[in-house]
Amino acid sequence: MRIELLGVAGAGTMGAGIAQLGCLGGFETRLWDPAGAALAAGAERLRADLDRGVQRGRWSAEDAERAAARLVSTASLDALDGCDLVIEAAPEDLELKRALYERLEAVCGPDAVLATNTSSLPVGRIAAGAKHPERICGMHFFNPPALMRLVEVVATETTAQPALAAATAVAERMGRTAVRCADSPGFIVNRCNRPFTLESLRILERGIAGHDQIDRVIREQGGYRMGPFELMDLIGIDVNLEVARSFYRQRPEPRWKPHPIQERMVAEGHLGRKTGRGFYRYRGGRREQAEETAELPEPVRRVVLERVVAQLVNEACFAAEEGVAEPDDIDAAMRLGLNHPRGPFGWLRALGAERVEEILDALAAESDERYRAAPLLRRLTGSAQSS
Ligand SMILES: NC(=O)c1ccc[n+]([C@@H]2O[C@H](COP(=O)([O-])OP(=O)(O)OC[C@H]3O[C@@H](n4cnc5c(N)ncnc54)[C@H](O)[C@@H]3O)[C@@H](O)[C@H]2O)c1
Repeated sequence: MRIELLGVAGAGTMGAGIAQLGCLGGFETRLWDPAGAALAAGAERLRADLDRGVQRGRWSAEDAERAAARLVSTASLDALDGCDLVIEAAPEDLELKRALYERLEAVCGPDAVLATNTSSLPVGRIAAGAKHPERICGMHFFNPPALMRLVEVVATETTAQPALAAATAVAERMGRTAVRCADSPGFIVNRCNRPFTLESLRILERGIAGHDQIDRVIREQGGYRMGPFELMDLIGIDVNLEVARSFYRQRPEPRWKPHPIQERMVAEGHLGRKTGRGFYRYRGGRREQAEETAELPEPVRRVVLERVVAQLVNEACFAAEEGVAEPDDIDAAMRLGLNHPRGPFGWLRALGAERVEEILDALAAESDERYRAAPLLRRLTGSAQSS
């Protein structure tokens, strides 16, 4: 299927960024938003970002000009008539999105592909009321779309192959890496990264290391750009807790249970950078205390990274076995979507399946179900019969 005309529904943070990628990718792009002010602001941001890209040498002035000329911003949904693919980036509200798809189906031709950028709603539930659910899929971009090179292309049980192929081709023409994944909680990245913060909170709770020590080990030894506590402070402990709750509501896996430390901090109003206090304290947007530079104690260095990584590997094994995505796609998604230094299957190869299994079994023996090794891991080590 040939895609020439692209529609974007919603001109907020994500919609304007996605429309920019469409214009730069050579698509005639129609950006629609029901709120006039939001539409004007989104189109303005898009143009300003194109100019900034020229100043930073990311593309030429001619390319920016050509891209800007491909944009039509419109306050009328009817203008999406004729679009070959519409990417919806409206607010994260199931009923709002379902009502919008009803309107999109009435306006767009019967062959148009409709893709949602939802982060947390099941795509199948958005598509459930549609006349043609086979043409609905997910195209999950990351924020900011202009810088993040990943798109998760999400297939529901009813999405037809041509719709997935079209979404993949569009993402690739936008210069993104598209990874296929099944419609399941958090898709690939948000799900497979659950242990990054949850396991770190358990290490903190057990008194094995302080939050600052854990951050240092994860950065210095793991090669991650940011430690889990710095990350939670940045995105907001309340936001992180809400995501954790949403996963646990969708599926009460013991591994996904929100941590009491998060609950307590939110109840106390310590939400991270935005309130000046989270795991760290901030003044004027900067961390108050300088980071310790003394060498970390050997038990801390040894245990922390391994525990977090073992759980990242384990979650990815569960996800791969459930058919969420192929191992190589999971690795690509974690590297591109989160800037992780290597994906979970990369860690699995580096540590060896036996070592990961050993770490999990030791933890499971002293605690609980949260460390149950994935059946895939058991098969990799040849100990499947003991699971
Ligand atoms: N912000 C992120 O980090 C991020 C990352 C990935 C995915 N997402 C997802 O992208 C979607 C949009 O998020 P956002 O951060 O851009 O939100 P946003 O609030 O910045 O933008 C939403 C836009 O939708 C418009 N809108 C309101 N009602 C609408 C309707 N009925 N139909 C169409 N548009 C409508 C609003 O005017 C607004 O401009 C959500 O589903 C969100 O989960 C967000």
